[in-house]
Amino acid sequence: MHLAGKTVVLCVTGGIAAYKAADLTSKLRHAGAAVRVLMTESATQFISPMTFETLSGNRAVVDTFDRNFAWEVEHISLAKAADVFVIAPATANVIAKAAHGIADDMVTTTLLATRAPVVIAPAMNTGMYDNPVTQQNLQTLRARGFHIIDPAAGRLACGDTGRGKLPDTPVLIHGIEKALTPQDLRGQRVLVTAGPTQEAMDPVRFLSNHSSGKMGYAIAARAAMRGAAVTLVSGPTALETPADVTRVDVVSALEMHDAVLARADQQDMIIKAAAVGDYRPAETAPEKLKKGAGDLTIALARNPDILAELGRRKHPGQLLCGFAMETQNLLQNAADKLQRKNCDMLVANSLRDKGAGFGTDTNVATLLFADGHQESEPLMSKESLADTILDRLLAMQSEHK
Ligand code: CTP
Repeated sequence: MHLAGKTVVLCVTGGIAAYKAADLTSKLRHAGAAVRVLMTESATQFISPMTFETLSGNRAVVDTFDRNFAWEVEHISLAKAADVFVIAPATANVIAKAAHGIADDMVTTTLLATRAPVVIAPAMNTGMYDNPVTQQNLQTLRARGFHIIDPAAGRLACGDTGRGKLPDTPVLIHGIEKALTPQDLRGQRVLVTAGPTQEAMDPVRFLSNHSSGKMGYAIAARAAMRGAAVTLVSGPTALETPADVTRVDVVSALEMHDAVLARADQQDMIIKAAAVGDYRPAETAPEKLKKGAGDLTIALARNPDILAELGRRKHPGQLLCGFAMETQNLLQNAADKLQRKNCDMLVANSLRDKGAGFGTDTNVATLLFADGHQESEPLMSKESLADTILDRLLAMQSEHK
């Protein structure tokens, strides 16, 4: 989580979705952020400042004319303290004021003074949201670099159905984290493969491996968070699709092969974290195999090596990153694979290292590069390793240019 140690100034404005800002406050605190809440006068009609004071552990500030504290200092100090400035829910009214620089209460004066990135989560009646004036105001804010989190569609409190609902907390948290993350992969198209493949023997059974998909999903999530357009070609996993990622589900190595090769030419970076089955049953029985009296021998056919094929087809400027999971002679095997498959980088990890391997949230890896140099990474979260891999690919790309 990249919210740890950050100060989020959360402005709550007057709509029925204001109650959801309480959950947001709580989840931000869980993620390690400090939360300072500002409320408009009308927000206090929907939810009490005390709710936010209890959840945030800080005084909730309501309006500029509160005589109990030095407001002149307060709105400037909050504006400066913010690492990110969030308005959730944002009414049509506060959006209109923000678009025109009107500063007539605590929320809008602080907004005008802050230099922090601003995230706005509109929530209102569909008619108000769709009204061209609101849309134009949002467009103005977008053009000014504000991060707008699109409202969800559904049944609204007023009984109408349409766009205008405040999205669920994880979507809001994702938007806030994104606003805090440098968008250094913007404009890049990144394809990631993840998970195991399953090679069917019959309609009931398959050959597979222990891959959980966590490493590939972490790479896809971080690349999207850093602004890339990400396609994740995934074998069967139990993981949720990361936000802003286009996921293509496949089952077998042959399906993964087709899904990856159909999209490969358009990509700037391809990262092959999937544990692809090297063999498949030579024949898939159409009906469940019944047991006979003796042992069963199954003939296996070789699957195509997707990474090697990508290495042959690689276009200039495209970067290819493979993975190698080994149980012995890690670096020698990995160096051979890098060369053989024409990769720019290879992430090698040993199943024997503590903290590395299938299903864990951490990894220990050595990065090998086409020019022969190597870099050993210490034990770290798969998320941090994902960032390191993306950092190195990005650096290589600027060297190529
Ligand atoms: N890979 C692939 N297609 C395959 C097998 C592997 O694209 N049919 C990719 C994996 O996604 C990974 C890399 O190749 O990025 C290395 O996978 P690994 O199974 O370690 O390598 P193999 O070439 O299969 O080598 P070996 O089984 O001999 O260790």
